[in-house]
Amino acid sequence: MPNSKPQVLLVATEVSPLAKVGGLADVVGALAKECHNSGKVKVSVALPRYNEVDKFLASEQIKVKRREEFPVTIGTQSMVGAIEHVVYHDIDIYLVDQPHYFKRNGIYFDETYKIDYADNLERMAFFTRFVFEALKVLDLKVDIIHAHDWQCGLFPFYLKSIYKMDGFFKNTKSVFTIHNLSYQGIFSVEQYGILGVDWKYFTINGLEFYGHINLLKAGINFADMITVVSETYAKEIQSPEFGNGLEGIIREKAAAGQIVGIMNGVDYEEWDPEKDIYLPVHYNAKTLDQKKAFKIAYLKEKGIADPDPSKPLLGMVSRLVDQKGLDILLEIIPRLMEQGVYLTILGQGKEEYEVKLRDFARHYAPSFILSIAFDIAESHKIMAASDMLLVPSRFEPAGLTQLYAMAYGTIPVVRRTGGLADSVKHGVTGFVFEPYTPEALLSMVSQAIITYKQNPAQWEKLMKNAMKEDFSWKQSAQKYIEIYKRLLQER
Ligand code: ADP
Ligand code: GLC
Repeated sequence: MPNSKPQVLLVATEVSPLAKVGGLADVVGALAKECHNSGKVKVSVALPRYNEVDKFLASEQIKVKRREEFPVTIGTQSMVGAIEHVVYHDIDIYLVDQPHYFKRNGIYFDETYKIDYADNLERMAFFTRFVFEALKVLDLKVDIIHAHDWQCGLFPFYLKSIYKMDGFFKNTKSVFTIHNLSYQGIFSVEQYGILGVDWKYFTINGLEFYGHINLLKAGINFADMITVVSETYAKEIQSPEFGNGLEGIIREKAAAGQIVGIMNGVDYEEWDPEKDIYLPVHYNAKTLDQKKAFKIAYLKEKGIADPDPSKPLLGMVSRLVDQKGLDILLEIIPRLMEQGVYLTILGQGKEEYEVKLRDFARHYAPSFILSIAFDIAESHKIMAASDMLLVPSRFEPAGLTQLYAMAYGTIPVVRRTGGLADSVKHGVTGFVFEPYTPEALLSMVSQAIITYKQNPAQWEKLMKNAMKEDFSWKQSAQKYIEIYKRLLQER
């Protein structure tokens, strides 16, 4: 049936606006919405029911339409869970409710002790098995299971192992999207029994990786098609520098035409300075005075009594992890602050970075504003109030904050890597530096500061250029839809 509408199930552990840690959530949420709006795909979504999902359902007064309880076998244990069907903005969402696995104080790791949950393999194996069984219980036939990142790497694998001979899935294909190759889901081989599959899959063409289980590798090796979240990152990960040990199989898959780079987009319903629900004022490229006024109001709110408009406000919204360039940024903070700037950083993550940032923020108060938190409202305010956004990533598969910044007329200062290289044009929509060194970062930020202070006309041009850029999801979603359709035809 080559012309029928593909039935696609997106499976992920984060989906905006229900549950979010980073960009994965934004992407899965927006892709679902865009596929649905296109009318070309019947899309649905499955994710675990965390505490924050409970809060979201309550706040939106969303009721569960159907709930089915049943057990699945994980290792030697029978674990009972429930599948729940809810509808949000006309999209069917299937929640896997299993309090022991998913009602915890964090999604991947314990927020108090900052360590990964020891049973993450078991949690993901349960989620995956349960979704497959739920499709049967609900009699929901899907053409494509589109799985995201290592957490869902077992979906393509189970489709070709446990469910290979199951007639219910005989027409189902899988797509696997790599959002970040540096998180692979590597587990000790002692946990192999949890997976419930034969040892014959524990090979280098299966899920074995230097004697360990690797779920990202499982996804890559067994998916019918693999996508990567930007074109440049899709090339970068074929080299040892970015491939994290998987460059060999990635090169093989690329040579077989099974890997394609598709740049992420922006959900402009959420990220639009003209109608942002988190902002007290709204603006567009013709009313930039409103943006300037908001910057002053923001600085006042943060305790700066008489803000100096000639000083630029530099913002950053980021997970505080090695990937994001915190080490080179921390090295230049004193030399940056000396230049007469305000700095606002929102993020949380590695303790070492949090501690160092706190020390600097104390030292440079009130000009250095720091929020160690996960705060969506604050992330929108920083995007609108700032003059520049710093994204000095060591590597960046796609990156979303630089795209949001551009939409808000906030000039990104980024490193030339991955999706940052694909989206920011040096001297046109932002500032781009290349070597991963504190000096290169400092020199580029200083160039941006000088332009801001000495050449307002050029700065305004940059803002207008950035705001004109269009990263809407339409084009990217269309590329995914073409992949779904092609896989349907190949069956
Ligand atoms: P990554 O997925 O690697 O974290 P992205 O740039 O793709 O990087 O996406 C990050 C997303 O998470 C953006 O939507 C950003 O606004 C958001 N974000 C990151 N840190 C925070 C935070 N501390 N509070 C609120 N939102 C955050
Ligand atoms: C990952 C990457 C980021 C990307 C996001 C969504 O977390 O680090 O670059 O934008 O996934 O695809």
